[in-house]
Amino acid sequence: MRMLLGLPQLWILPLLVVVLFQCSFALVIDYSYVGARGPRHWGDLKSDWKECSDGKAQSPIAIRSKHAELNSSLPGLRAHYQSSVCSIASSQYIFKVFIAGAHCTLPLNRATYTLTDFHFHIPSEHTVDGTRFPLELHLVHKVAPNSSQITVVSKLFKLGRSDPLLDQILKLKEGNATINLSNYINLHGGYYRYLGSLTTPPCSEGILWTILKKTGTISSSQIKRVIALLQGKNARPLQKINKRAIYKHSS
Ligand SMILES: *[C@@H]1O[C@H](CO)[C@@H](O)[C@H](O)[C@H]1NC(C)=O
Ligand SMILES: *[C@@H]1O[C@H](CO)[C@@H](O)[C@H](O)[C@H]1NC(C)=O
Ligand SMILES: *[C@@H]1O[C@H](CO)[C@@H](O)[C@H](O)[C@H]1NC(C)=O
Ligand SMILES: *[C@@H]1O[C@H](CO)[C@@H](O)[C@H](O)[C@H]1NC(C)=O
Repeated sequence: MRMLLGLPQLWILPLLVVVLFQCSFALVIDYSYVGARGPRHWGDLKSDWKECSDGKAQSPIAIRSKHAELNSSLPGLRAHYQSSVCSIASSQYIFKVFIAGAHCTLPLNRATYTLTDFHFHIPSEHTVDGTRFPLELHLVHKVAPNSSQITVVSKLFKLGRSDPLLDQILKLKEGNATINLSNYINLHGGYYRYLGSLTTPPCSEGILWTILKKTGTISSSQIKRVIALLQGKNARPLQKINKRAIYKHSS
């Protein structure tokens, strides 16, 4: 050790700092799912994360199909997803796929949202009728690239056959691939709708949530690979519904 850190080798230190900095540059998160930086403390960690503890319309929530109000004015979902360049970003607790260009759109409430990324939570964050699923996919749509007007479409996955989209994504590792998302993502089959928040800091509210009723399947080997990428589970605990209305659309 003394030899290694002897004077002649000191030049290596700034180099190490540069390398470490660059490696951790891409996706640094300063919250956790356990311990002192875990979900119960998110609201205290930064002043602009206060909504995580003070918010009254937070996500995720427990959905009860019987208590959800059937709302006939909710439209069916018609996404216009297309071939897009997808690239992966991952770090502890994050496994995210960025969509280049603005080719995938979702018209909703007189606005046109664009799919900007999708990411995975293990296990699911939302529960339906008391069931927590092994995995939840969040498709994040925004009206403009940096807009805070966000709508998230969530798909829940049971254990079963492997999911073909996840297979494509896991093959990606680093770099890009063009994936025709319309072949893999289907928004038909009804949904639950409510107004909530981001499920990660800053927990901003005003997020329009759509939880698809139709579930997908993933295989246990896929779950293992996603857990290895996430290096731990990343589901925020259930939040209070308070006075929120939860609607359902069935088709
Ligand atoms: C149906 O949902 C919309 C929000 O999407 C809401 O404004 C409206 O009040 C709901 N209608 C009923 C009958 O609950
Ligand atoms: C959007 O945000 C990114 C990163 O914060 C920034 O680099 C970019 O300039 C922003 N774009 C616009 C149009 O504001
Ligand atoms: C990913 O795609 C973008 C174009 O969308 C390109 O500029 C970039 O070089 C690609 N990166 C890799 C690692 O292939
Ligand atoms: C993507 O898939 C859809 C539906 O399968 C198809 O209609 C469309 O032509 C495909 N786009 C490309 C570029 O292959």
